[in-house]
Amino acid sequence: MINIKVLKDYEEMSKVGAQVIREFIETTEAPVLGLATGSSPEGLYAELVRMHKEENLDFSNVQTVNLDEYVGLGGNHDQSYRYFMNHHLFDHVNINKEHTHVPNGMAEDLEQEAKDYDNLVQSLGVDVQLLGIGTNGHIGFNEPGEYLSAPTHVIALKQSTIDSNKKYFESEEAMPKTAITMGMQSIFSAKHIVLVAYGEKKAKVIAELADNRITTDNPATLLKLHPSVLVLCDQEAGKLLK
Ligand code: F6R
Repeated sequence: MINIKVLKDYEEMSKVGAQVIREFIETTEAPVLGLATGSSPEGLYAELVRMHKEENLDFSNVQTVNLDEYVGLGGNHDQSYRYFMNHHLFDHVNINKEHTHVPNGMAEDLEQEAKDYDNLVQSLGVDVQLLGIGTNGHIGFNEPGEYLSAPTHVIALKQSTIDSNKKYFESEEAMPKTAITMGMQSIFSAKHIVLVAYGEKKAKVIAELADNRITTDNPATLLKLHPSVLVLCDQEAGKLLK
């Protein structure tokens, strides 16, 4: 079931999102967070860092698993998702880095890496999975298409995703065209899901979360089958909701 909340702006969305994650951290004995990268959760991570610094929010028992990583980028590459997570969250809070997990986009055997990652996700058991959403409806890098993959897998990115993310690279050629991502089953194994979205570009895919349809053309619509999904968006992303 999806509960959609439209907040005033990005700042409000980030604060409400961080507060939800904070409650999981404070009320779960050994919290396992599923995390996302991208511009949508940046403000939320900044707020978690503030909560740690100013209000002693404690990450010492927290474990994390990220959704995805570009194939071919190592953790030192400034556009890798491992780098993003260190830079926006892990380097600024008291988390044990060994308890933070991002798929290895440099693995020699990516199929084995995908299997191992799924086993890790299953054995940890995610309490709350944070998601962003692509302009094409992707969650993680589960791209729209005729079918979706259940487990963690390697996927060719759609041109719409390349168009959205190439701005972070020197050129379109420099951007990896494949990624390793948790699949729908890996994502759905989380007990709770929180999705954050802002800006007009997300309005169409967010509106499709509120109707009765499920379609692989907008992978996020499958979230209607999950028992606990909270969508937090700003007014722009929520503007096509009835
Ligand atoms: C990132 C991820 C992606 C992003 C999505 C939205 O780990 O899995 O699904 O959440 O591409 O990205 P932004 O927030 O940059 O619009």
